[in-house]
Amino acid sequence: MSILTRRRLLHRAAPLPAPTGATGTPLGAAAALAAGATGPGADTASGDEHDPAPAPRDVLRFPENFGWGAATSAYQIEGAAKEDGRGESVWDTFSRTPGRTLNGDTGDVAADHYHRWPEDLDLMRDLGLHSYRFSISWPRVQADGTGKPNQRGLDFYRRMVDGLNERGIAPMATLFHWDLPQALQDTGGWENRDTALRFADYADTVFRALGDRIPVWLTVNEPKTVVQNGYLTGHHAPGKKDPDAAYLVAHHLQLAHGLAVQAFRATGEPGRIGPAINLHPCYPADDSPAAAAATRLYDGYENRLYLDPILRGSYPSDVLADLGPDSRLVRGIADGDLAVISAPVDLLAVQYYTPIYVTADGGTERRWPTSVAAWQQIYPDGFYDILTRVTRDYGPIPLTVTENGLPTIDVLAADGTVDDAARVDFLRDHLSAAHRAITAGVPLESYHVWSLLDNFEWEAGYDQRFGIVYVDYPTQRRILKRSAHWYRQVIRDNGV
Ligand code: FCB
Repeated sequence: MSILTRRRLLHRAAPLPAPTGATGTPLGAAAALAAGATGPGADTASGDEHDPAPAPRDVLRFPENFGWGAATSAYQIEGAAKEDGRGESVWDTFSRTPGRTLNGDTGDVAADHYHRWPEDLDLMRDLGLHSYRFSISWPRVQADGTGKPNQRGLDFYRRMVDGLNERGIAPMATLFHWDLPQALQDTGGWENRDTALRFADYADTVFRALGDRIPVWLTVNEPKTVVQNGYLTGHHAPGKKDPDAAYLVAHHLQLAHGLAVQAFRATGEPGRIGPAINLHPCYPADDSPAAAAATRLYDGYENRLYLDPILRGSYPSDVLADLGPDSRLVRGIADGDLAVISAPVDLLAVQYYTPIYVTADGGTERRWPTSVAAWQQIYPDGFYDILTRVTRDYGPIPLTVTENGLPTIDVLAADGTVDDAARVDFLRDHLSAAHRAITAGVPLESYHVWSLLDNFEWEAGYDQRFGIVYVDYPTQRRILKRSAHWYRQVIRDNGV
């Protein structure tokens, strides 16, 4: 295979200087707007008495009924790693292994959401969220990934989901956000086809327990990140560097997705279901034919490898040819698998953080300002490009954005405020791009900012804060950042 992604290879690199607003960056206008904005006052409470004074302004209005939400995932916020019968996941193992995460951070306590969920739900209500995208921890529901469910784990999610519905917030549940039960890893993890069957059983258990109260389900979060970070670079659990295994893992994750869709249909529940895929628009770094060809293949590995099987029922032929007939992926595709994987879905969840610029030799190049996550380039037009491309190439399937956000090193000021102006810029520019995509005909129905709360950012530990709500980890106090106040106003205005 000729291409291994470089995404997140630089994760441990020192933070680069903040975006300079160099000529040509699409951030200039938003930065100027933000500079004129007034910051919120100190606020740990949920009232809106500290919101910026409404100023007359032009608002890009979103369609009526557009859904405004925020996203989290279980291992990143719940904590309570050993409570109520929860089993170990691959992320427990990985984060407790010395040298794997920044400062040796783990999700043992995280944002303590397992205990503080009522307060967190109140906060969401007070922000005016319509929708909350969270994930269910497989090892909380089945400690070893198989067999009789752990009722205490299911009860936690039932209480939380009921709490959302009572507050008028629509629950959107992801079944797998990377916390594979360690017991299943011990029998081969996603390299083992049987793990996909175990996933379907787990999904069936969850559908039967919660299917009557959750309107939207997402199957597997970002299969690509498991493939690339878990099996190519080894920066994520289970920490392998085995390209041949990686693409077999891609197949089994997609098989798991398809089996879960089938299990969901079999329950007869009325909700909707789809995959959550992170997409990266790929652009050639120069005008050469070689860069164009390399970009095409790169796009295959980044996007079509995950979109085509689910939405077209086939693997992209250029990627299969590049992997070769002896690859474990090609050998691992059994008769009928693609029919399962392409079981019709109701919606596609898109996650967007960064574009990729591909050089003639198949490498990558940075073009736009980065954030404290060195793998990210801030390029809102890429959001427009990827949304319109999905609609153009795959038809008018309803889209929801389930992740989009910016990490910052936020500081709680002496006056109790957190001024994350860069996040406001980022969100405004990306929402403007999403608005343009809708105007161009993209059936985008909702948007979820990543993330509601600061949380455990995988191998980057707790340093990179993605939340619109600051978490003061020593006290677990929640503090609305400037971006949270801003987002509340966006929701009220139904626009930016
Ligand atoms: C995505 C993950 C999410 C979070 C963001 C920053 O790849 O799905 O858990 O880490 O990146």
